[in-house]
Amino acid sequence: MGEELPYALTAELTHRCPLHCVYCSNPVELRKREEELDTGEWLRVLEEASGLGAVQVHFTGGEPLLRPDLDILARRARELGMFVNLITSGIGLTEERIVRLAEAGVDSFQLSVQASEPGLADRLAGFRAHDRKREAAAAIVACGLPLNMNVVLHRHNIGQIEEIVDLCASWGANRLELAHAQYYGWALMNRDALLPTREQLAAAEEAFARAKERHGRSLELIWVVPDYYEDYPKPCMGGWGKLSLAVAPDGRAYPCVAASSIRTMEFESVRERSLGWIWRESASFNAYRGFGWMPEPCRSCDRRFQDFGGCRCQAFLLTGDASATDPVCHRSPHHRLIEEAAVSAARLSRRERAEQGEWAEQGEWAEQEEGA
Ligand code: SF4
Ligand code: FES
Repeated sequence: MGEELPYALTAELTHRCPLHCVYCSNPVELRKREEELDTGEWLRVLEEASGLGAVQVHFTGGEPLLRPDLDILARRARELGMFVNLITSGIGLTEERIVRLAEAGVDSFQLSVQASEPGLADRLAGFRAHDRKREAAAAIVACGLPLNMNVVLHRHNIGQIEEIVDLCASWGANRLELAHAQYYGWALMNRDALLPTREQLAAAEEAFARAKERHGRSLELIWVVPDYYEDYPKPCMGGWGKLSLAVAPDGRAYPCVAASSIRTMEFESVRERSLGWIWRESASFNAYRGFGWMPEPCRSCDRRFQDFGGCRCQAFLLTGDASATDPVCHRSPHHRLIEEAAVSAARLSRRERAEQGEWAEQGEWAEQEEGA
């Protein structure tokens, strides 16, 4: 088998963000502005990623629009022949900025939305963002560019699937990804308040089918299931260090954006090593490649070729051991941790409905510190 090389780079340009979403999967300890790579360093990262074979770059954050050098980076990525995707909250995305970014090299704008109803959307974002997102969507469409949208689903918006799809269709979306929250970072801290119940999930799947029936021809709809209610884990990242890599604002390189949460591992920085060395030689990228590192039951399980033992970040966050079988798997010795989370979410959901309506007050949730 030939050497595996990354096809995509996720460039987390900054952790600074005007929004404070309660499900944010960014690390709980955000990197400050002074720690961010400068323009020259990011240009080198792009060149090295392209040299390794990456053909896509996803500029994200935080909010990548807060970087004044975004045009320069997009232009260089385009020159290197990469497909350039910008993942944005839309705050600060004016028509003028869109034109400049598209001319520089941005091929695709991916805009997030929190809910169908502005009051709830703004509360989830911790910021009056909804109307500005609507304006950003209109500006992208006015510039003749495709509008990709995404919504993170959880207990407080999962009952609005059809309304959310209708809203995105009315804003002119070409593609909408409905992805259930992944429980890392802030989302894990707020998990009890976010995890939907099994009943909510079943109702949501029916609502999604109805929405697909109505909009399926004009709007590409993607549904990403929440793994907490699956029997087997997701093949996270298509395997550790196999298809893609992420560079954090401070230059540390990770096999996925959540991996900084694995406190027991050292991750190298592009300030000290080339991306090629990190990809090929570093202990962190090699730690969970192949199958030799797997414990039982994965080691002798036929599904290991499909799911690679699940998610290393989830294994670490729930068990303290990044090499453990993902607890989502019903064969994992830690699977009760997932079952307990579902029971706890159902209990809290019943209490919320009884005491507070459908909403858990944000003040009760883990408070997210403002990025620098
Ligand atoms: Fe996947 Fe491991 Fe579970 Fe088998 S035992 S299904 S390889 S996580
Ligand atoms: Fe890091 Fe799954 S999110 S390996």
